[in-house]
Amino acid sequence: MTTSKNKVVIVTGASRGIGAAIAQRLAKDGFTVVVNYAGGEDAARQLVDNIETAGGRAIAAQADVSDAAAVYRMFDTTEAALGGVDVLVNNAGIMKLATIADGDDAFVDNQIAINLKGSINTMREASRRLRSGGRIINLSSSVVGLYQPTYGVYAATKAGIEAMTHVLSKELRGRNITVNAVAPGPTATALFLDGKPQAVIDNLTKLAPLERLGQPEDIANTVAFLAGPDGAWINGQVLRANGGVI
Ligand SMILES: NC(=O)c1ccc[n+]([C@@H]2O[C@H](COP(=O)([O-])OP(=O)(O)OC[C@H]3O[C@@H](n4cnc5c(N)ncnc54)[C@H](OP(=O)(O)O)[C@@H]3O)[C@@H](O)[C@H]2O)c1
Repeated sequence: MTTSKNKVVIVTGASRGIGAAIAQRLAKDGFTVVVNYAGGEDAARQLVDNIETAGGRAIAAQADVSDAAAVYRMFDTTEAALGGVDVLVNNAGIMKLATIADGDDAFVDNQIAINLKGSINTMREASRRLRSGGRIINLSSSVVGLYQPTYGVYAATKAGIEAMTHVLSKELRGRNITVNAVAPGPTATALFLDGKPQAVIDNLTKLAPLERLGQPEDIANTVAFLAGPDGAWINGQVLRANGGVI
């Protein structure tokens, strides 16, 4: 990949948070961006408008990543509309916190369905369809490493994503496609902030030696490195983008 012009990227869960920042950054870098969303249609369409107003190219695509048939259709639609897919950013995810003792079936099933099976669904299509020079970038989390109480099921889904990152990078031998993961630390989005008392947020903010929360743009910068020409030699790696929490 020598230039990002004329490249097509699917960013899952791009209607808000980290995914929206990734979509905006990659559009600025010259990618045509497929802004995937599950329920946030208005936000996704607004983001597409913003990207186009800034001179970029984007389309919105609804698909629940936990639904394999919907993911298949999203790749089909993208190929029909834009001619192919070069980069997949597996960003869609949810985080629910409970001890392993207290988490009920729905708590377990939803996180596994969206975070783990959702990433499998998209990686399967990407590994069949990505063009030479392509990139797969998975969103893990620095909770894989920190292992705090109540993060068990969420961390398990992300550890699974890291395992598949390593395996898929080897399975794609000969295809000229890299597979990496980015593992953010605490980042100022709804996923991290919602439902946490301010004192907990303050404590987690101080975890990093850089003494601030990550911003969605910090993560987008890291993804842009892996997606662009400078990241070409990075393959099968997990890059923790967390200000030094671990
Ligand atoms: N924020 C953090 O501190 C942090 C730290 C480490 C890792 N991460 C990871 O970074 C990624 C993005 O997190 P975030 O903080 O930006 O979360 P967020 O603000 O809650 O946004 C989540 C995004 O995922 C989408 N989504 C949820 N379920 C989906 C599904 N079934 N199919 C398709 N899209 C779905 C949402 O779309 P709709 O609005 O359309 O439903 C939304 O666009 C996640 O994988 C998360 O685990 C975040």
